[in-house]
Amino acid sequence: MNIMIMGAGALGSLFGGLLSQHHQVTLVGRGRHIETMRDNGLKIEGATLLHAWPKCIMDIETIEKTSLPDIVILAVKAYDTEEAIKQCLPVIGPDTRIMTFQNGLGNVETIQDHVPDTHIIGGITSHGATRLDPGMIRHGGIGDTVIGHLSCDDHENIQKVADIFTASGIITSISENIGKEIWSKTIVNSAINPITALLGEPNGAILEDPGLVDLVKKIVSEGVSVANSIGMELIRDRTIDMTLDIARRTAKNRSSMLQDVEATRRTEIDHINGVIVRMGQEKGIEAKFNNALLDAVKVRERGEIDKDIIKKIALLDS
Ligand code: PAF
Repeated sequence: MNIMIMGAGALGSLFGGLLSQHHQVTLVGRGRHIETMRDNGLKIEGATLLHAWPKCIMDIETIEKTSLPDIVILAVKAYDTEEAIKQCLPVIGPDTRIMTFQNGLGNVETIQDHVPDTHIIGGITSHGATRLDPGMIRHGGIGDTVIGHLSCDDHENIQKVADIFTASGIITSISENIGKEIWSKTIVNSAINPITALLGEPNGAILEDPGLVDLVKKIVSEGVSVANSIGMELIRDRTIDMTLDIARRTAKNRSSMLQDVEATRRTEIDHINGVIVRMGQEKGIEAKFNNALLDAVKVRERGEIDKDIIKKIALLDS
């Protein structure tokens, strides 16, 4: 398979490294990480030990029109989806499938504005990955990966894609309702990511403090109410258990939002808690914990650190 991965962040690199063991993988990214991988390969440590050699490029235009990718994986930040899919259009052939493994809501809809539904495969993954240095990432926790078509019943094709991922060490199952899976995963991220970004601690810290577990329950409950108001039929306790289970399985991982604030990058808060708050408002559902996290992460993005902010948010109910 000829696989192109748009976005060489921690997760894109992890998937690129794993898939490159058996397939022709091209990672598209920027800066020293791409340069280092070109010269020295990609080193992965942690849950996976691997020295991989995916092809690394900075410019999509260097891709030969005679060998268009079979699969394009979007692994860019949610706020870059529009730009990334536009850049990919020249290399999307009639048989190319576009997959998204991005955090947050709205990515699939943005891709749908440019590519027919039949070419899109939605996906979620709860693998934890951290970029340590240029050319080096840590696989911080093994998670589940789920993929699904939006409106196409090509079971043979999607099974083939799931098998390719699984054979490369990314155990992947298929969902008949990928929209629901994306909502569940977004709710998981709405709790783990801002809490860890504001605390400056890895995901496992949440499980060590009953007050934080309680806060997770409140954040998740709000997200489930909003999701169910648009017919997602999520089960509150199951979504809470899923969130705590992912925190456990990625206990040593620093969440992508924590990595973003530490690197003074923009976070995906608008596409995670921001969407939950906005859709809640539209449906008359108050999401005050999500709203407080949204505000607090915006402040943290500006470089202001309030060590007690999580304690203050946890007390919102009392
Ligand atoms: O965004 C992240 O960091 C990841 O989605 C997850 C699964 C929470 C692991 O840290």
